[in-house]
Amino acid sequence: MTTTVRTRVAIIGAGPAGLLLSHLLAKSGIESVVIDSRSRDEIEQTIRAGILEQGTVEVLDASGASSRALAEGHRHDGIELRFEGEGHRIDFQGLVGRSVWLYPQHRVLKDLIEVRLAEGQDVRFGVTAERVEGAEGARPRVFATDADGEPLEIDAEFVVGADGSRSVARTAVTGSQTGGYFREYPFAWFGILCEAPPSSEELIYSNSPNGFALISQRSDTVQRMYFQCDPDVDPESFTEEELWEHLQARVPGTTLKEGHIFQRDVLRFRSFVAHELRHGRVALVGDAAHTVPPTGAKGMNLAVADVILLGRALRALLLENDERPLDAYPETASRRIWKAQHFSWWMTSMLHVAPDATDFDRRRQVGELRSVVESEAGRRFLAEAYTGWPLDTAL
Ligand code: DHB
Repeated sequence: MTTTVRTRVAIIGAGPAGLLLSHLLAKSGIESVVIDSRSRDEIEQTIRAGILEQGTVEVLDASGASSRALAEGHRHDGIELRFEGEGHRIDFQGLVGRSVWLYPQHRVLKDLIEVRLAEGQDVRFGVTAERVEGAEGARPRVFATDADGEPLEIDAEFVVGADGSRSVARTAVTGSQTGGYFREYPFAWFGILCEAPPSSEELIYSNSPNGFALISQRSDTVQRMYFQCDPDVDPESFTEEELWEHLQARVPGTTLKEGHIFQRDVLRFRSFVAHELRHGRVALVGDAAHTVPPTGAKGMNLAVADVILLGRALRALLLENDERPLDAYPETASRRIWKAQHFSWWMTSMLHVAPDATDFDRRRQVGELRSVVESEAGRRFLAEAYTGWPLDTAL
């Protein structure tokens, strides 16, 4: 027995992009249905990056999606770049008058789910999208399997693929699930969560001959740290002692505060942008449209920027029958996407040690880092990108 649901916008994916989009649409009186193959618990517990651009925090707050990011997150006015055993502060406030907020993505998701459910949003967990059809017609359709294994179809005026890097909706937009510009990197991050006080007031991005490390934070008692590793490493193959040795060797000049490591994961590095972001009445946002390597934490921030643009385009289409903002969406979104692609690639290549790096490469890299930290223009370039280029948030 197939169940068919009719709605204005079908959103595949209850991650930050899908949930925020449903929120912004609802504020304009546009009804949507959100589906996700994962359970609510799984979504709320997946560990992701922790840095929100100032614009992201402002949008979450102003739209009523999450005021906790601003109230409970920690404002960071700078970061430290560390190389050759010395730290160099990038003073965001002094350089660009902006900051970032440390507020983990899973907390944003919890806030968004809470708000959407309280407002009566139709969010269906455990519902797996199989394909999207009819992009070129007036009523595209999502074919899915519900939590009980029964077929579910969503008949809508527009379908949004907010379904992450393994997007099903992408096929309806680009013609294939992998259609895009792609780059892989010969390293990954080994991420840990540990019970310890912060080792430093601000985040440390450290380049060392042993590879990269990032000393991030979560709270007064829990810290998040990463070190560069081989992409095929088994997370369980290290003892806690070995993990501390690896981390410590990559942050020369700072003594890390150690504590019990209670979570470990390996994050692969990829850059990807789908060849197309929209086909007829189907569009892609967030990781379905693009993936960035984690250095600089652009992933979720970029998803929010897409959603602001697509939300506005859908309002024009569905409330005023004006297709122009939707026609402009791929080009407008692409500009920021490629700037973020560049920034994430640049931070990654400047800070990591490639397995085949020569002595020339190492010295050139230190030259590059010096060009950034010893020049106000260099520091400002980094600060502008890290805190986020201006968002056109006029709704
Ligand atoms: C974190 C992750 C990042 O990729 C980054 O650049 C900064 C912080 C984090 O998880 O805290």
